[in-house]
Amino acid sequence: MNRIVATGMAVPACVVDNHLLARCMDTSDAWIVQRTGIRERRVSPDTYRMLQGLAEAADKPAFMRAVFDRGLGETIDSTLMVSDLALEAAEMALKNAGLTAEEVDCIVASSTIPDYAYPHTGCVLQGKLGLTSTPAISLQQGCAGFLYALAIADQMMRGGMYRQTLVVGAELISTIFDYTDRGRDMAVLFADGAGAAVLRAEPGPRGVLSSHLHTDGTVMDSLAGEVWGTSTYPPVSRRKIDEDRSRPRMQGRQVFVQAVRRFKEVVRECLAANALGVNDIDRFIFHQANLRILEAVGDALQIPADRLYNNVDRYGNTAAASVPIALHEAVTQGLVREGDLVLLAAFGTGFSWGATLIRW
Ligand code: COA
Repeated sequence: MNRIVATGMAVPACVVDNHLLARCMDTSDAWIVQRTGIRERRVSPDTYRMLQGLAEAADKPAFMRAVFDRGLGETIDSTLMVSDLALEAAEMALKNAGLTAEEVDCIVASSTIPDYAYPHTGCVLQGKLGLTSTPAISLQQGCAGFLYALAIADQMMRGGMYRQTLVVGAELISTIFDYTDRGRDMAVLFADGAGAAVLRAEPGPRGVLSSHLHTDGTVMDSLAGEVWGTSTYPPVSRRKIDEDRSRPRMQGRQVFVQAVRRFKEVVRECLAANALGVNDIDRFIFHQANLRILEAVGDALQIPADRLYNNVDRYGNTAAASVPIALHEAVTQGLVREGDLVLLAAFGTGFSWGATLIRW
């Protein structure tokens, strides 16, 4: 079996509460808390500096347009990259596993927005770990990214290809949103962070029991970002910005309904595959999209509230980082103990969704 022997996480130091967002756009702490359960989130220093400027700006749309056109002024280079957060989380997981980076056989990472068009996030992370030949794989799987990365790592290890894998979900997604009224539906939800896990092949009953993955690309437009991408030529153009196609877009209601439906389906699928019921599971660690989604799924499946981990109030939706951050916190807080059955599940852009059952 392949067992998660250690976890790690990293979040930027900059905390953005709902009140700061309310100074940038037409929203309120009450609206955000009631609809999402989010009270604060962590963002990159660049996003934070931009938000402080936006909060003070008299003409907010003009300020935001200027940021998208010219960056933050003196530079357009980020002071923090997604690979930096991935590195911090990875180093913590390696330290907790008592391993050096050289002892890892493979890296599988996922981030919705990479540092560069190419090479990919896992490769940049691999280089920052000082490795020169360890294979690195990257996914761009959105909020389900960590579950996909974990399943791929697990399957490669089951096949005997590797013995020890570093699995990472990392995001610096706050950098793409429009924090004025135009982008408020998404801007209040998403935030930055990273989580990592070391997966090791070991004899015995502990480890990943099964993974269940799904995608429905026919509805991709419900939650999509053309921030850059080969969907246009050139990837980022003046015309794309002028036609308002450079911003991420989301049909909130549809995403909500689909998320609840797919979470329920895949959790049931995972339980059925292992001939288990909800009451057999010690801890449910779901993607932290939104408290209302978690509660709706929890109610429908009759999951006892104290078994459903949630930290969305402190971090918001950190996409691919959300499951490994929640897992790391739950483990650190002693909420996941040896022998426990832990069910991970996630849903995101694509739509892509999945569930994984682990005997801890
Ligand atoms: N602050 C205040 N008002 C906002 C807002 C914000 N940040 N964002 C959107 N609104 C407005 C909308 O413009 C709309 O206004 P209108 O009625 O004048 O058109 C109104 O709020 C919509 O309100 P309501 O119908 O009560 O919203 P909702 O209950 O559907 O909640 C979401 C909106 C986005 C919170 C909800 O749809 C949701 O959680 N969707 C899932 C999003 C998600 O989790 N995505 C990631 C999945 S990985």
